[in-house]
Amino acid sequence: DAPETLQARAPVVTIMGHVDHGKTSLLDALRGTDVVSGESGGITQHIGAYQVKTKGGEIITFLDTPGHEAFSEMRARGANITDIVILVVAADDGLMPQTIEAINHTKAAGVPMIVAINKVDKDSANPQRVRERLLEHEVVVEGMGGDVQDVEVSALKKIGLDDLIEKILLQAELLELTANPDRAAEGTVIEAKLDKGRGPVATVLVGRGTLRVGDTFVVGAESGKVRAMVNDKGQNIKEAGPSSPVEVLGLSGVPGAGDQMSVVENEARAREVAAYRAEQATKKRTTAAPTNFESMFSALSD
Ligand code: GTP
Ligand code: NA
Ligand code: MG
Repeated sequence: DAPETLQARAPVVTIMGHVDHGKTSLLDALRGTDVVSGESGGITQHIGAYQVKTKGGEIITFLDTPGHEAFSEMRARGANITDIVILVVAADDGLMPQTIEAINHTKAAGVPMIVAINKVDKDSANPQRVRERLLEHEVVVEGMGGDVQDVEVSALKKIGLDDLIEKILLQAELLELTANPDRAAEGTVIEAKLDKGRGPVATVLVGRGTLRVGDTFVVGAESGKVRAMVNDKGQNIKEAGPSSPVEVLGLSGVPGAGDQMSVVENEARAREVAAYRAEQATKKRTTAAPTNFESMFSALSD
């Protein structure tokens, strides 16, 4: 076999933090910096993940904070999707229980963290206090002699967004993220549903390879053939490369969040693998699989 040709790929970034600290607001604000959406006027989020093209032309993939159920599912299945975690901490509230949980999960997974100190527009904001409290949890920001990047932002007033993007790109550069686009595609289901008109639909984050319309695949215990693909801008596309989130149509049923999608050579093989996976899943259920939270945050590997 010819050696794999690895090419640079976009970082996959997940935003975590305590309830109401501004995760969704920050995601919305970051989406607003997308030069592509900016050009076309409107910004429509069609799927639970999206890509932003920065002013410098780099692409960043953001995963919307998954719902509680999807989150637990992915955790149970040990899906590996995130390269970088952005920890959002409200500058007025400071560190709260879910902030600390997020720190622990991120550390256990060994995924780099960038701290976004949000709501700095508020009179009651105290970013320095946040940095000090982070020390207690062994998160030492650069200004305090550590190596964790931090940035003061306001999702509401759109302060510090370029700075945050710059820090994400810097971190991504250090990670030297690559994937081979020239192989059978593999990806992870972020969310899936049964759509009245379109049938089973899955949002898949492509890990490696390039997914194409017409590809035969297995996803969890389901199989199918890619009938159509829709990107985060709502456009029909023919192919999706590494780190691209895409809606896939043409599944035999609804898979679960965290399920792995693999393109295979033909339908007979797809049915075979799907049947095997269904059998394995049944076995797992009867032996009570342990939840593996850490691996959810492991970087995509080649
Ligand atoms: P959950 O998804 O419910 O955990 O919340 P979240 O972390 O996504 O927070 P969300 O974006 O919903 O924001 C919570 C509240 O904080 C909303 O009322 C926002 O308008 C407000 N908020 C978010 N960012 C800022 C900010 O930078 N400054 C101010 N003043 N308010 C903000
Ligand atoms: Na909220
Ligand atoms: Mg939210």
